[in-house]
Parts: sequence; C-alpha cells; structure tokens
Amino acid sequence: MRIIALLLAAGRGARFGGDTAKQFAQIGDRTVLRHAAEALLAEGLVTALLPVCQPSEQAQVAALLAGLPTLAPMAGGATRQASVRAGLEAMSGDAPDLVLIHDAARPIIPGGTIARLIAELADHPGAIPAQPVSDTLKRAEGGVIAATVPREGLFRAQTPQAFRFAPLLAAHRTAAAEVTDDAALLELMGLVVALVPGSERNIKITHPEDLARVTSLMTPALFPR
Ligand code: CTP
Ligand code: MG
Repeated sequence: MRIIALLLAAGRGARFGGDTAKQFAQIGDRTVLRHAAEALLAEGLVTALLPVCQPSEQAQVAALLAGLPTLAPMAGGATRQASVRAGLEAMSGDAPDLVLIHDAARPIIPGGTIARLIAELADHPGAIPAQPVSDTLKRAEGGVIAATVPREGLFRAQTPQAFRFAPLLAAHRTAAAEVTDDAALLELMGLVVALVPGSERNIKITHPEDLARVTSLMTPALFPR
C-alpha cells in the first residue's frame, strides 16, 4: 500500500505576521515544518512526503527535510485548495493508493491518529481527526447575541485528513466551491467521511500566541512539574 502525505507549506501566514512564514518558525532545534514532517512519518505508515511550498522556497524546504523520505518540493497555489490540487495532480501520474493532507502549521500529531484514519478508509473514502466543540457557541448580529447555537454534534476539523486517492482527485477536479478542508469537497459529492478522535494538542499555528502554546507542549523539560 503506497501512502503519500501532502505537506502543505505554501501559505504566507498573514495572521501570524512577521517576516518568515510560520512553518519556518523554530521550536527547539527544528522548524515547525520539520516537526510536522517527522510527525507524519512517526507511525511508519507513510511511504513518502510531498511538500508544497512557495516557488522561491523549494530549495529551503528540501534542505529542511533532508534525510526524510521526501519527493522534490513543488510549487503550491494561491489558496490552500489550489495547493492541494497542485499536489494531487503532480502525483496522479504515479497515483498512490491513499493520500494524507496535512497542514505544515500543525507540528503535533498524537500517536495512533494516522493508523486510525487509515483503518477507516477500509469502509469510507475519507476520514479526518475531529475534536468536539467545548465552548458554548453564540451567533452574533450587530455585536450582540442573536442566538445560542446547540453544540451537540459539532466538531472542529483537524489534519492530517486521509483519503482514497481516486475520489479525492475527482472531488478536486469537479469542485465548484472554495472550501477550507478536503473533507468538505467529498461532502459536496455526497460521499461519507468518517471521524476519528482529534486532540487539543493538534494545534494549527495561526496567531503568534499559538507558537508559545505548541512550544510548551513540545518541551516539557522547560516546564517542570
Ligand atoms: N497553505 C498552502 N497554500 C496556500 C495557503 C495555505 O499550502 N495557498 C497551507 C499553509 O501553509 C498551512 C495550511 O495550508 O500549512 C493551513 O493554512 P493557514 O493556517 O490558513 O495558513 P496560511 O494561509 O499560511 O495563514 P493565513 O491564512 O493567516 O495567511
Ligand atoms: Mg490561510
């Protein structure tokens, strides 16, 4: 079974700010990108990584991933969805059985997640890690509360998201809408996507304070009990 993991690193990190994109920020002795890559490989199920990045950063990304089973980094697109599409089209000539789509901005993948995702693909075309919403949800209008939204059955979608390759490529080729994750494209085709447990540790670095949260989770020695 060939499983390729698409490592999405073509974003600019506008909300994170600063001069360097967040995937190149340092946590301990390695970059967020390298942590994400090693997390994808840690369960020993992924055959190879395909990094997608800005054209000007292809050499830097290859160097940062040196020593890992990695295909040559390729150029992404203007949106996350376009970056995924570019990666899927690049691998379609020698199509893998399964594909994982992972945000390079998520350096922690709890152990066992990838095995659970892949197990779900025996019965479903796609599977994602998802975390139940724990805050009370409000719908606002004009700066005041219009309604409280029942949170029962609501989840936050995380990555890596796992798919059988053929339906995911078909979903991208026929996509009529811009969506923020890949599961949504299968949903639009009427396909059923499974959920496996997500984690509060699977943080997508989005704002500057997220880097400190992730760093504290990854370096317990800095925070002795
Ligand atoms: N991504 C990508 N190609 C894009 C946009 C995003 O590969 N054109 C990747 C990012 O590098 C990131 C993941 O998709 O790993 C999730 O996106 P997000 O958290 O939104 O990252 P950015 O787009 O970089 O951040 P922002 O939206 O704040 O600019
Ligand atoms: Mg973005």
